[in-house]
Amino acid sequence: MDARMPSWNEYRYEKISRDHLQQVVALHEQCFPGYYLTQLGPSFLGVMYAWYLESPEAIAHVAVGEDGRLVGFVAGTVNGATYRKSLFRKAWRPMLLALGGRLVSKPALTLRLVAERKDLVWQAVSTILRRGSGEEREAMAGSDREPPTASLVSIGVRPSARRSGVGASLSELFVAEARERGCERVTLSVRADNVPARRFYEGMNWEEVTRSSKSYHGSVSITYQKELSDEQ
Ligand SMILES: CC(C)(COP(=O)(O)OP(=O)(O)OC[C@H]1O[C@@H](n2cnc3c(N)ncnc32)[C@H](O)[C@@H]1OP(=O)(O)O)[C@@H](O)C(=O)NCCC(=O)NCCS
Repeated sequence: MDARMPSWNEYRYEKISRDHLQQVVALHEQCFPGYYLTQLGPSFLGVMYAWYLESPEAIAHVAVGEDGRLVGFVAGTVNGATYRKSLFRKAWRPMLLALGGRLVSKPALTLRLVAERKDLVWQAVSTILRRGSGEEREAMAGSDREPPTASLVSIGVRPSARRSGVGASLSELFVAEARERGCERVTLSVRADNVPARRFYEGMNWEEVTRSSKSYHGSVSITYQKELSDEQ
């Protein structure tokens, strides 16, 4: 057996496509066990990642091995300020269906998760109700007028392929595309107890800017930022 781990440049890097969707969901579950979205189930995750296929604001890339298996993914948006609204506006029906299915298969867990993030439920409901209203169009247009701040929403690498530069390559692809598309900075949030990820970002010169005052699912979250104008 060849025990040598392939290096980052032995993988193919491509934009996400529908063919990758199932593997991205499976990799998300593997990379984020017990996390909030993972607990909402694979159908919900499938709806979330399908947004990246259909939305002009999305930035999403995957790393693929010679055998066609995914080893990593990165996903986010050129406009962090409108990400959730865009997601809720476009995908509320399949999200509701996925949530309904989860409610049937895991009622106690699903009710607990919904109760835990009433703020998100409220944001979803108000976005859906205000869809197409003048107020909503004005808010979206306002956020379009400023140079957008991109948001790196998630990144994951298959455990057996870690520490070979795949994560760094994917995050660089993300940052390069955000810069090309006119963003002046990129932000991301990570749980304070996710020490490997924090070392990863800090090693690539992401700067810590804020910590949440509230703890979500047992940990505060840290926001990191990268100014793109500083990058060559
Ligand atoms: C964070 C993650 C994407 C990093 O992917 P990766 O492919 O292993 O990262 P790289 O090999 O490109 O690492 C680049 C550098 O980051 C740092 N780094 C990466 N993982 C680290 C770890 N576990 N501990 C300390 N430093 C680490 C190192 O400096 C590393 O360089 P080196 O290996 O030459 O020392 C991966 O660990 C992962 O999928 N984690 C689970 C999901 C997650 O937490 N995502 C981030 C939150 S959104």
